[in-house]
Amino acid sequence: MTTSGATDRARVARAVSRAAPRLARDLPWVGERDPWAVLVSEVMLQQTPAARVVGPWRAFLDRYPTPAALAAAPLAEVLTAWRGLGYHRRARDLQRAAVALVERHGGRVPGGVEELRALAGVGEYTARAVAAFAFGARVAVVDTNVARVLARAVAGRPLAPREAHAEATALLGRRDPRRFNQAMIDLGARHCAARPRCGDCPLARVCAWRRGGGEDPAPRSAHVTRPQAPFAGSDRQWRGRAIERLRHGPATPAQMTRHLAGLEPARRRRVLDGLVADGLVVRAQGSLALAGTPRVAR
Ligand code: ADE
Repeated sequence: MTTSGATDRARVARAVSRAAPRLARDLPWVGERDPWAVLVSEVMLQQTPAARVVGPWRAFLDRYPTPAALAAAPLAEVLTAWRGLGYHRRARDLQRAAVALVERHGGRVPGGVEELRALAGVGEYTARAVAAFAFGARVAVVDTNVARVLARAVAGRPLAPREAHAEATALLGRRDPRRFNQAMIDLGARHCAARPRCGDCPLARVCAWRRGGGEDPAPRSAHVTRPQAPFAGSDRQWRGRAIERLRHGPATPAQMTRHLAGLEPARRRRVLDGLVADGLVVRAQGSLALAGTPRVAR
């Protein structure tokens, strides 16, 4: 089901197209066409702000320039290369995806959304982003940035998951998928942010929400994620701390307890059990170790 009239949608699409050069952010993966480099950037961007991805993205690709290079690396080394990005499960999944690329795709990233979707850690958004940005496929991408633009500017009301994709596809139309999708992401990051900056928004005159008024439709719309909880004091921070310790070698429970001083026992257990359940850490001979590293604490 579509929600806005074709004329209104065409006006929004035109305004986005026209504003594309002004919206462009200076990010190194923009214009990148190597599918592996694009896949790595999109996985990193899933949960880490663009500014924090720039350095690690370059370093990661220097170290692992191909899926085969990543597939062959020990997980402990991969986690080192992932430093600063958080959400380490993504590193494990990216490595699993690299193994699948080597085993099933001749070491190359495929261009089809369905094949991409089958890779570990690759959801609908990431699959579409790789297809569109690396291969120029005519598919619309819907991340949290784009989803806010769709709910506010196009529909003026919260959208269901399928509606959001239908609106995004209709909006893209025959336009250049690389340029238009990037402009939508940039618009969502610059203006149509969680806290919107409508003052100088290039869509201000055509925005359905601005014309109709009322409550912000974005927070209840599909694919719009809530801003992340603060990092300080979070389980994410403690998980990172535990991994940081294990990068230097296995730890006995007592050593780990000392390293995580300040964390109450029940929460410490939860954090460590979570790392084990995620396949990042293994328990062997009473010690904890990163998966794929020597397992005996000294
Ligand atoms: N976030 C996700 N994908 C992005 C991209 N291609 N450019 C900027 N931010 C992004």
